[in-house]
Amino acid sequence: MAFNEFFMWGGATSACQCEGAYNIDGKGLSAIDMLPLCNKGQLRTPTSEILEDSFYPSHQAIDFYHYFKEDIKLFAEMGFQCYRMSISWPRIFQTGDNEIPNEAGLEFYDKIFDELAKYKIEPIVTISHFDDPYEAEKKYGDWNHREWINMYYKYATTILDRYHDKVKYWMTFNEINTLMYYPLFHGMEKNHDSMQIVYQMAHNKFLASAMTVKYAHEHYPELKVGMMLASTTIYPYSCNPNDVMKSMEREEETFFFSDVQVRGYYSSGALKKMESYQVKIDIHKDDEKILKEGTVDFIGFSYYSTSVAVSEDEKIEVSGNFMKGQKNPYLQVSEWEWQIDPTGLRYTLNQLYNRYQIPLMIVENGLGAEDTIEKDGTIQDDYRIHYLREHIKEMEMAVSVDGVELLAYTPWGCIDLVSASTGEMKKRYGFIYVDLDDVGQGTFNRYRKKSFYWYKKVIESNGKEL
Ligand code: BG6
Repeated sequence: MAFNEFFMWGGATSACQCEGAYNIDGKGLSAIDMLPLCNKGQLRTPTSEILEDSFYPSHQAIDFYHYFKEDIKLFAEMGFQCYRMSISWPRIFQTGDNEIPNEAGLEFYDKIFDELAKYKIEPIVTISHFDDPYEAEKKYGDWNHREWINMYYKYATTILDRYHDKVKYWMTFNEINTLMYYPLFHGMEKNHDSMQIVYQMAHNKFLASAMTVKYAHEHYPELKVGMMLASTTIYPYSCNPNDVMKSMEREEETFFFSDVQVRGYYSSGALKKMESYQVKIDIHKDDEKILKEGTVDFIGFSYYSTSVAVSEDEKIEVSGNFMKGQKNPYLQVSEWEWQIDPTGLRYTLNQLYNRYQIPLMIVENGLGAEDTIEKDGTIQDDYRIHYLREHIKEMEMAVSVDGVELLAYTPWGCIDLVSASTGEMKKRYGFIYVDLDDVGQGTFNRYRKKSFYWYKKVIESNGKEL
């Protein structure tokens, strides 16, 4: 059998895309609370205050804050063995630098973990998933300022102390490598100025993560703390050695992050890259020691698509959640133009496992698509079943044929939630349909899609019945 008895099937969400209740029970504003809805192909731009005539999807999201019992019951009905979620940082420390945590926020997650425990669902918690406290951003600026390290450490150790006997698996930062897209998000060229910020932010996040891992290992040795990457597998467009070099260079930008968090030091190649931008990061006396002592136990990663590199950048044809790239003529694209590549999942699993030899978790995978409710109330999402089935087949091969050590599979947005890149609701990933439209109108009712029943069988048969 490909998957052993310890393999965990489940689903994934993040606090800022499902909880809503953005100003309830003492929660502070999160960076994502300042992002209004935008459309396909646009980049979401934050507003400096909440504008009355704009719609901010995170403010109510799918109201998981009030529906969590109903939702977790549905997860349990599907047979989930684990649930990847995140804790909202500003629900615990409203402004990031508060002295005392918000007890109402802490109690909310106690209730979630207790509810999960009721159904024997193992939580996998991301400490920071796209929702830094907004007040701290205003006061201190971006993560290139070292104040963030201590604020994060205080937040992370507070939740580790509170929940260590309820949560065994943790991840420090969601998709940490998306920092590389900072120049793109800020309309900057990739040059000394922008890369100085990128590398300093990365260094500060590496430290915050390593300090957290070290604390967890020292205080609660039974815990497993991982890092989390957005996989960005990039094939060479052709066997032209220049294309091959280009794809390697692009992939190294991602491995830069996992190299440091898994190995505990900057590789010589990474140092050369910084030199090429004349970047000098502010490294304090003990930083290197901390990085060495806080290496992670596993790698979680998101996988949606792959892209292609050519030596001379030609026209950009397709998208990914953050990256754009050249069209791969062998692949179909989703409605949001993300290239669909199940084999790429097996390839990515092999790449990561062969490079690091530590356990992996696929903590995001799935198809964002528009769903229709039929007259009889059903949702026939065969396209989603097809996408997931083909990816699970490849995941199975990676385990049984290639020997990859895989701990869990948690498809993204197991219940429909708001999209991170656009804020749309119509870009749905879930097994559970939530009756809401892009501007938050609807009943909030939950409906089981066809994929709900399919995934239930997949879990019951431990991946044999696809
Ligand atoms: C990942 C993020 O990048 O992709 C999630 O970790 C996000 O937060 C997911 O939702 C899918 O992207 P999108 O833009 O379709 O929501």
